[in-house]
Amino acid sequence: MPRKLAAGNWKMNGTPAALTEVAALCAAHSAPGVDVLLCPPATLLAQMAAATQDHALMVGGQDCHANASGAHTGDISAQMLKAAGAGAVITGHSERRTDHGETDADVSAKSQAAYDAGLIAVICIGETLDERESGTTLSVIDTQLAGSIPDNATAANTVIAYEPVWAIGTGKVPTTAQIGEVHAHIRARLAARFSDAADMRLLYGGSVKASNADDIFAVADVDGALVGGASLKASDFGPIITALSNA
Ligand code: PGA
Repeated sequence: MPRKLAAGNWKMNGTPAALTEVAALCAAHSAPGVDVLLCPPATLLAQMAAATQDHALMVGGQDCHANASGAHTGDISAQMLKAAGAGAVITGHSERRTDHGETDADVSAKSQAAYDAGLIAVICIGETLDERESGTTLSVIDTQLAGSIPDNATAANTVIAYEPVWAIGTGKVPTTAQIGEVHAHIRARLAARFSDAADMRLLYGGSVKASNADDIFAVADVDGALVGGASLKASDFGPIITALSNA
């Protein structure tokens, strides 16, 4: 069984004042029994890493450039994230794919950059509402899995997050049967390609809250969650961590 992971994505939220939430989270979950990752905006990464260095909590980036350095105004490399204290980076989040036109090939190159810098890549995939309704979810997932994951992915350097685009930030959550179907499909596809696929963490993401966490974590092949809105406050994220450690 892979070690479970509760990951939080703060997106474009948070100034130094929000670090009080991290202090509260660390105080309440000093020995969480699961891995905990928080991905703040890059401006807070070093401060959050310093604030959590005596705790099990890992910090991570929300995106990285595929190159290690160079003339790329506004971008941040995986090496820079690592130097700021990151242990992981999210790649291919649907908001990056939509807002910045990132392709599967871009996501794969960024994930490779993460590996090269010694970071875990949390690679996101997921179908849109149109794709779900037209019955193409599993073929969309297949294309994303084939194109977004480098060949040298392992259970140690890679986490896969299944995030239906229509469930992100909407309060709409797939049924547990739908989540289970996609996660089982992802596991099988990974197993055909990677020898340690059984140990690769598969996270569900999209409107995870304390109120639905128990049901989602009971689904087979769900090894944790990638949480957006409900990761911003310790009082919301804490109960999700507890639910995962009790699952
Ligand atoms: P949400 O975001 O929990 O706010 O729906 C999830 C995500 O985008 O990772």
